Parts: sequence; C-alpha cells; structure tokens
Amino acid sequence: MADQIRVLVVDDIPETRDHLTKLLGFESDIDVIGSAASGREAIQMAGKLHPDVVLMDINMPDMDGITATEQLSTTAPGSAVVMMSVQGEADYLRRSMLAGAREFLVKPFSSDELTASIRQVSLREREKQSRIRAGAPVTPSASATGDGDGGQIVAVFSPKGGVGRTTVAVNLAVAVAKELGKRVVVMDGSFQFGDVGVLLNLNPKSNSIADLIPVLEAGEIDSIDTFVVDHSSGIRVLLAPPSPEMAEMITPAAVKQVLEILRRSHDLVVVDCTAFFNDTTLAILDAADVILTMLSLEITSIKNIRLFLEVAEQLGYESGKVRLVLNRADSTLGIRVADVEHSIGRKVDETIVSDGRSVVYALNRGIPFFVSNREAQVSQDILRLARSVVGERAGAAAGADSRKSAQKKSLFAWR
Ligand SMILES: Nc1ncnc2c1ncn2[C@@H]1O[C@H](COP(=O)(O)OP(=O)(O)OP(=O)(O)O)[C@@H](O)[C@H]1O
Ligand SMILES: [Mg+2]
Repeated sequence: MADQIRVLVVDDIPETRDHLTKLLGFESDIDVIGSAASGREAIQMAGKLHPDVVLMDINMPDMDGITATEQLSTTAPGSAVVMMSVQGEADYLRRSMLAGAREFLVKPFSSDELTASIRQVSLREREKQSRIRAGAPVTPSASATGDGDGGQIVAVFSPKGGVGRTTVAVNLAVAVAKELGKRVVVMDGSFQFGDVGVLLNLNPKSNSIADLIPVLEAGEIDSIDTFVVDHSSGIRVLLAPPSPEMAEMITPAAVKQVLEILRRSHDLVVVDCTAFFNDTTLAILDAADVILTMLSLEITSIKNIRLFLEVAEQLGYESGKVRLVLNRADSTLGIRVADVEHSIGRKVDETIVSDGRSVVYALNRGIPFFVSNREAQVSQDILRLARSVVGERAGAAAGADSRKSAQKKSLFAWR
C-alpha cells in the first residue's frame, strides 16, 4: 500500500534486529522491508530498497551509524534516519543530527516511542517531499505553527548554559501577561535542575510536572489547574520536578502531551529549556512554534549557535521558526554584533541590553525585573521581544514590518 511506512532496520546484534522487526510487525502501517548488520550493508540495501525510514544503531563495527547516515544523505536522500544509541550524550545527538539523522532514540525505549518516532519522521519527510514537488517553501505543519486549537508555544533555548534563558523566559512571560493581557504559562523544561521557581520565589514543595505525568498517563486528568502554580505577577508556572532523579520519568511523548494540554488553556506557553540537547529538549523544540535561541557575545556561544543552526536545518525547521536573541548585547567584550552575524551567516533578530543591577536585584528578591524595574531599558527590550513574538501571530505581515524597524533601531542604539 502506498501509505505504508517502509523501514530498514540496521543493528549489528542479530537479537536486536529480530526484536525490532517483531515489534514493528505489530503495526499495521509499518513494514520492515529488510535488515542490515552494518553501516556498509545499510548503504547497499538502502540504495536498492529505498526505505522511507532507516532505523540505525550508532555503535557498529565496520562502519558506525553516524558515518553511514552521512553517506545515506547523498546516496539515499529520500530515506530519513532514526538513530538509536545507548549513549544519551549531547555530543552523540549533535553529531547524529549534523550527519543528517532526523530523530534520536536512547535505548532502552518503549515500543510506543519507537513507532511514534518512525511515524513522525516519515510524516515530516513526506510533507517535505510534497512541498518540494509543489515548489513551495518549506514551512512547518499547521500543528507546529499553532494554527490549530489553542495558544502559541515559545521555547527559550540555547546550546550553551548561562546565557540568560531562564531570565528571559520568565520576564517575557510576565510582559505578555501584564502588558498584552494574555493567559500565559511558563513550563520549566529544565527537568533536572530547573530554576524558574527560584527566580519567582515559589514554594519548592508546590506541585510540579512530576505530579502531573502519572495522572496524565492514567488518563485521569480533568484540569491542569491543580498542577500549575499561580504567581503574583499574573503568570502561571508548571515547575520542574523537586529532585533531579525524577526527571527520568519525563519522556518525549509525555512532554508533547503536557505541552498540548497547556496550549489548549493558554494563549502563550513559554518553555525554559536546558542547554543539554537531549530527546526531551528535542520534543519541546519540535512542538514549539518559535524557538527563541539565546546567544551572548562570547566565542563559545557563537560557535554553538552555528552548530545549532545546522541541526535546526537538518530537522526541517523553517528559518522563521528559529529566532536569534542576543542577550547582554551591549557588553564590551571585544566582539561586535556585526562579527557575530558574519560568523553565523545570519542576522540577529532581537537584542536585550545588559543590566546587572536590575537583573540581580530582582533575582535576589525573587521578583521578575519586569515587575520591579518596569522602566529600565532591559524591561523595554523584553516588551519589544514580547510584542514581536505575540504580535507576529496576530498579524504576520504587519508584525514583520514593525519588527524590522524595531530591530534596526535597537541595533543602531548600541553599535
Ligand atoms: N540582560 C542581562 N543583564 C545582566 N545580567 C543578566 C542578563 N541576563 C541574564 N543575566 C544574568 O546572567 C546569569 C545567567 O542567567 P540565567 O540563569 O537566566 O541563564 P540560563 O541560560 O538560564 O542559565 P542556566 O544554564 O544556569 O540555566 C544570571 O546571573 C542572570 O542574572
Ligand atoms: Mg536556566
């Protein structure tokens, strides 16, 4: 049947190949059309069989999964690779994505995670192919743009820690709630070491995502209200688990489900992501309508941004989904914004000034600076960011124009 997803399984261990083949045999829309024991064999078979999806192990003698994936991107560009590995390290994920893999599964994974990944990758690839055939630009699907039911999901991400994600996520949320009158929730997506609660001075014993997930899995959820905490600034918060080991229960599928629920009852869902590029972060980035990618004027931050932009392209994110936000943009560190833009080959979309006094004063008191120092330039920069993120959805064309002029102004202000 034309709709069947044709899968090639690649793993050097015969039992694993058999197990995966059997598992996938239960799915009526998936056909395993072959299995290969090495990277080299995978390339030969993919050339003949043209699978939709290649389920690829990373560690194999002969040729490893990353090298094989790299070669497949030229020999079998229509086959999308889902990488499997026992190593969940950021470096493996990044190298796989750069090699052209579309998804990354960390062993052991459930059969639901496996089939969901295969379906998602295959759907994304089919959409991409049909757009290419139609000659249309690559744009995200309706669900990813938030055109469906509910609000917008904005992920605040950076491939490097300490660049101001939590600070920006929280203050952006407050600005949208207070000034633009929207219903806003912040999800702390830094599941192991989240600090959104600290910035907002919330009781660490409050309910968190760790309480929500078991209820969701049992299918007993009536309302999200019990699990989100109201903050005096007008925003709501879904906290990270109280202890790091509880983060393990949070799977990519659960994250997607939680985001969908939050989206249904809010105009804006802001997610503070970790800098660790793992499978749950990827689930958040996939679900997001906009990824505010934070960078600073430091050479390591710039290098990581360049790599992330390559990964984002491999993942099929359209360029408008990723927005570059330069934090502490006026710091005098010897690197100018023009150098940054030249190095990453792209314009910075938004800038936020450095204001240690307002930011640290607010941090120490557990109040967002947008509340305690509303008139400061840093708050005004946050408001401009808020307007551009939310306004864009309301009126795409008009929003883009005003964004351009606002952006020009802010660039000239400190250049
Ligand atoms: N615009 C700014 N001006 C001055 N200080 C800032 C600004 N933005 C962030 N900071 C400071 O930089 C530090 C890091 O900020 P923050 O914790 O928000 O970053 P992060 O990316 O979330 O870090 P982590 O990797 O720890 O999660 C904090 O001390 C914060 O107060
Ligand atoms: Mg943080």
